[in-house]
Amino acid sequence: MIELGATLTLDVGPVAHGGCCVARHGDLVVFVRHALPGERVTARLTEVRSRYARAEVVEVVEPSAHRVQPRCPYAVPGGCGGCDWQHAEADYQRELKTAVIREQMRRLAGVDAAASVEGTGLDWAWRTRVRFSTDPGGRAGFHRFRSSEVVAVDRCPIAHPVVEAAGVEGRRRPEDEAIEVAASSSSGEFAVTEFRRGGGSRRTGARRLTHTVRGRTFRVSPRTFWQVHPSAAELLVDAVLAALRPQHGDRAVDLYCGAGLFAAFLAQAVGPSGRVLAVEGDPAAVRDAAHNLRDLGVVDVRHADVGAALRRGAIESIDLAVVDPPRSGLTPVNVSALAALRPRAVAYVACDPAALARDLAAFADAGYRLGSLRAFDIFPQTHHVECVAILTREGRRDARHAAVV
Ligand SMILES: C[S@@+](CC[C@H](N)C(=O)[O-])C[C@H]1O[C@@H](n2cnc3c(N)ncnc32)[C@H](O)[C@@H]1O
Repeated sequence: MIELGATLTLDVGPVAHGGCCVARHGDLVVFVRHALPGERVTARLTEVRSRYARAEVVEVVEPSAHRVQPRCPYAVPGGCGGCDWQHAEADYQRELKTAVIREQMRRLAGVDAAASVEGTGLDWAWRTRVRFSTDPGGRAGFHRFRSSEVVAVDRCPIAHPVVEAAGVEGRRRPEDEAIEVAASSSSGEFAVTEFRRGGGSRRTGARRLTHTVRGRTFRVSPRTFWQVHPSAAELLVDAVLAALRPQHGDRAVDLYCGAGLFAAFLAQAVGPSGRVLAVEGDPAAVRDAAHNLRDLGVVDVRHADVGAALRRGAIESIDLAVVDPPRSGLTPVNVSALAALRPRAVAYVACDPAALARDLAAFADAGYRLGSLRAFDIFPQTHHVECVAILTREGRRDARHAAVV
């Protein structure tokens, strides 16, 4: 039995989901962090289970041609757990994410998807919402990988300049357990929420943030969900509308609508004879969505749990659906409830390719096929990636909604 802390020499194999690569030591599968495919490394075991282990690189014996020096001094083995791929060239990071998506699609959905992850042109200083934790001395930082221990930092190169302007790093805040900064790259506003050790919180800065997307402004409360990369909202809206092609008079739903991003543009596209139902579970987000969509008479904003609304038949038949669930995905039971409404097409916006692939298998069982799949690198330096999948109802002859994957 190999012991925790042991050092192994490993030939690193392919990338795995979650920001690591796979290597083998005899029968043991080892997930190696801070390595790249094709490298030979020595790595220290940080977790040992019966069927697999985790390890962090100690020394790179034979480096990959795609290896670069991390820009951040904390993005190293044993350091901050936030960035997974700073040691890889940015374009190569996208190749790694492409490989992960294709593998998840093949393994969990049985689909050969040719999607290649698209960059945004902004690989650093992009993150407009950052949650810091504090170390026992009250200094702000981030958790080590799979640990509750906090690594204090004096700056974060993926944080947007407006987040850095809040000046959280470098100050001692012994009374705080965590500090969240939410910023708007379009207005330059930021809000700081301090979560106290004994419970309770304190808010300073802007009461609400204003984000502008395609000339339309959205009011967003500091804790309401909003895409964190400055390009993300516009990219995703464009991708969804281009593939879904809403028509005048369509009845559409925006499930998990947040502050109303997709509902706003769907409403414009379906026109006065159409209808859009926007469903969201967070009360603050519902208030923001109602405010943001108040000029669009065709939109109805509903405060509800999406799964419960779908399963108890609270949503009438529809032509189109946009779903943008949290990381856990829509889930197969909700997929079949949505499919029972017989939309001609569904745009599924997903931040976890594994949950998406699992749900695509459920869509296939319900008679929907994958029409197109795009993916966007809106979380550069990390292993995260956003996908937009278009599902179309099988048997439909309407070529407008058919696409090549
Ligand atoms: C990934 S965000 C998408 C928000 C929005 N589409 C956007 O792009 O800004 C997911 C949203 O789903 C909401 N949510 C999570 N679970 C939910 C549930 N079971 N029912 C309804 N809304 C939920 C969250 O509050 C969050 O606003």
